[in-house]
Amino acid sequence: MARILIIDDDPDLLEMIKLLIERRRGHEAVLSADGESGVQKALEQPPDLAIVDVMMPGMTGYDVCRRLREAPETASIPILVLTARGQPVDREAALQAGADEHMAKPVTMTDLMEKIDGMLAEHSAAARPHTIAMASLKGGVGVTTLAANAAATLSRAGARAICLVDLCPSSGHLALHFGHRPRPDWSKLMREDVIDAQAVDALLLEVSAGLHLLASPIVPPVERALRRPTVKALLEILEERFDLVIVDTPSILNEATTTVLDLSSDTWLIVTADPAAVQTTFGTVRALGERAKGFPVILNEVTSTQRTSPDAIERVLKRPLAGTVPFDPDQAKALAQGKPLALHRPDAPLAKAMEELTNELI
Ligand SMILES: Nc1ncnc2c1ncn2[C@@H]1O[C@H](COP(=O)(O)OP(=O)(O)OP(=O)(O)O)[C@@H](O)[C@H]1O
Ligand SMILES: [Mg+2]
Repeated sequence: MARILIIDDDPDLLEMIKLLIERRRGHEAVLSADGESGVQKALEQPPDLAIVDVMMPGMTGYDVCRRLREAPETASIPILVLTARGQPVDREAALQAGADEHMAKPVTMTDLMEKIDGMLAEHSAAARPHTIAMASLKGGVGVTTLAANAAATLSRAGARAICLVDLCPSSGHLALHFGHRPRPDWSKLMREDVIDAQAVDALLLEVSAGLHLLASPIVPPVERALRRPTVKALLEILEERFDLVIVDTPSILNEATTTVLDLSSDTWLIVTADPAAVQTTFGTVRALGERAKGFPVILNEVTSTQRTSPDAIERVLKRPLAGTVPFDPDQAKALAQGKPLALHRPDAPLAKAMEELTNELI
């Protein structure tokens, strides 16, 4: 159920929309006959969506949009401008003022309901915590390097709380990229029947400001593995606590990897410019079927010598590359010193490419 604020000086329209959204969808309607009181109500208890008329006595709908966008508590709520002013220039003015969508009156109740449903769904998807899986079933293509640097880029860029998870079962290296010993690690979670937030919290390493990491055990677990319920609970706990979770998945389709691929909101497939990596990526996409349809493929040049052209990779995979990370001669030193380029050398080619990629994809 959503709380929807409707601001319109036409009392019949207010009642009609109220009836529609309460009866058909069970939403709660909050009505306002003028802009000033509408903004007041929105600030007191921010709605999940606002429907705003333009021409009203006193404050116009455009002013309402601007006021809602200015206040932090209503800055990101979806706003639909519903107005008799239906020209393209009116639409432009509504969007300029901060509305997300514009609909011209008269409108059928079916169209309006569809629009409301769509806006609410889009907003809740955007507000959902994010888990991004970085994956390749071919080892050594730079999955760990890109996971470390994507997280470093995003934590440097803003106030986002980010958690990196190294799910490698064979002594993963993610902590090393930040100059940390991988202690504690997730091995303890394999022994617990139920895991809670406190247990997970105790395992996190803060590797730089705002950036936490759950490390992989140095000594690979023998005859034990992370099971689906544990990985699922772990992701739920981390999504609750962080704005973004980035998972470095191992180059094997084990239960932990498939669980992450099932539950993550995005998966980046990493490929290098060599026939073996291209073949494995082709196979991976085929194995994952429908699920892999929208996965961006990123070419990471781990060596300075390109063997397969980007065009050829795109032809084999039948999809465009979402981006390329160039070979960076300073990456080896960055790893040896435990100082990710994205944190310590933002002008390095690898760091710049990561900035572009994260801007585009996240
Ligand atoms: N763009 C790049 N330029 C230069 N070196 C790179 C680049 N990307 C990765 N490397 C280097 O390539 C090596 C392999 O990278 P990384 O460990 O990240 O790969 P991986 O896919 O996680 O491997 P594994 O399968 O072992 O987990 C590392 O030494 C890393 O520093
Ligand atoms: Mg790795």
